[in-house]
Amino acid sequence: MEYSKKKLEEEKVFKDPVHRYVHVRDQVIWDLIGTKEFQRLRRVRQLGTTFLTFHGAEHSRFNHSLGVYEIVRRIVDDVFAGRPEWNVEDRLLSLCAALLHDVGHGPFSHSFEKVFHLDHEEFTKMIILGETEVNRVLAKVDVAFPGKVAEVIGKTYENKLVVSLISSQIDADRMDYLQRDAYFTGVSYGHFDMERILRIMRPREDQVVFKQSGMHAVEDYIMSRYQMYWQVYFHPVTRSAEVLLSKILHRAKELYLNGYTFKQDPFHFHSIFKEQYTLKDYLKLDESVMLYYFQVWEEEEDPILSDLCRRFVNRNLFKYVEFDPAKEYRKHSELESLFKKAGIDPDYYLVFDSSSDLPYDFYRPGEEEERLPIYLLMKNEELRELSRESDIVDAISGKRRTDHKLYFPADLLDDETSKRNIKRQIKSILEI
Ligand code: NI
Repeated sequence: MEYSKKKLEEEKVFKDPVHRYVHVRDQVIWDLIGTKEFQRLRRVRQLGTTFLTFHGAEHSRFNHSLGVYEIVRRIVDDVFAGRPEWNVEDRLLSLCAALLHDVGHGPFSHSFEKVFHLDHEEFTKMIILGETEVNRVLAKVDVAFPGKVAEVIGKTYENKLVVSLISSQIDADRMDYLQRDAYFTGVSYGHFDMERILRIMRPREDQVVFKQSGMHAVEDYIMSRYQMYWQVYFHPVTRSAEVLLSKILHRAKELYLNGYTFKQDPFHFHSIFKEQYTLKDYLKLDESVMLYYFQVWEEEEDPILSDLCRRFVNRNLFKYVEFDPAKEYRKHSELESLFKKAGIDPDYYLVFDSSSDLPYDFYRPGEEEERLPIYLLMKNEELRELSRESDIVDAISGKRRTDHKLYFPADLLDDETSKRNIKRQIKSILEI
C-alpha cells in the first residue's frame, strides 16, 4: 500500500488538556512525531520566559504542535470532507504542515533569534528540506512532498486555502495557542467557543470563510486574542526576563569574540557566536542546554555575565517604568551618563523595550505585513468582511497599541554604600 495512504492498525491517541485527545491514524504522522527533530520540541517551551511570570507556563512546543495538528485534522476530516471546494489530495499535506509549522523554533526563540540574527522559519525549512529524519519521512511520500510542506508553512503554496488553515488571522495555530496558553498560564482570557468556529468554517477557493450565523464566536476569538496579547504575551515581567536573557547572550557572545577564557568552555555556542552555525549545531541547542550554561556562567569571573545569569536563574529581574521615547529621549541620555558615573554599565543595565500588536486588521495592500481579512459567508452566499458586520471588531480594527518601557535593576540603585548622590539622582529621574 502507498505510504501516504497507510493507516496504523490501531488509532493512537495522546491525552491533551486542551483538546482532550489528539488522534493519529496516519502512518506518516506517527512517523513524523517519532523523529528526533520533532521530539526536540519537548525541550523548547511554547512561551519562552513566561514561566517566570505565570509559573504554570511550562508547556512545550511539542504540546502546541500536536494541538495544531489535531485542529487541522478535525477541520479536514469532519468539516471539509466531502465538500466540492475541498481537494482530498491536500489532506495529508495540511496535516504534515500543521504538525511541523514550528519545528524550527530554537530555545527562547524570541531573544535568541534577535541576538544571533537567526530566523526560526529558515530553520523550519532546513529541517523539512535538509538531511534530517523529518525529511526522510516526508520524502517517502514522494520526492516533491517535502517541498510542498515547506511551501505551505512558508505561505507560498499555490493553494491558499491550505495555507490559510495554518496561517491567517483565524487559523489552527492561533486557535491552539490562545487556548493552550490560557490553560497553562491559568488566566481567564483566551477561551472561546472553538467547537462552534469549526462548525461554521467553509472552504473557499483561496481561504477559509465563516458562516455569518456564528459571527459571535468569531468576535469572541478576536477579543480573546486581544486580551491574551496584553495580559500574557506582552506582560512587562515576561519582557523583563526576556531583556535579561538577551543581555546574557550578548555578553557571552561579546566575551567569546574578544577572546575571553571561560572557566567552562561554551562549546555548544561556538559556531552560533561566530554566526557560522550548521543545522546540526542549531538542533543541539535546547532550553535545557541554555539553562545549564546560565548556571555555569554564574561562576564566571566576568562580573556582568555572572550577575546577569544569577538574576535569570534566581528570578531577580529588572524593574520597569513607563517610558515614552518620543517625549523623553533627553531623559534617556541623561540616565545613561548617570549610570556610567554610578559604575553601572548602561549597555547591560538600562534597557528600553517596546511591544505592539494589531488585534485584527483588514487588508491593506502594500503594507509590510499584508493581512487577509476574515470573511463572513452571508445567507445569500455573498462574502462580507468581518468588521463591516461586527461593531465590536470594527471598534478595535487596525488599531495598533504600543507599550514602551525602560528596564533597570532597582536593587543596584538601592545599594547606596557608594555613589549615593548619583543613585539618588537616578531614582528621582525614574520616579521610583
Ligand atoms: Ni505555532
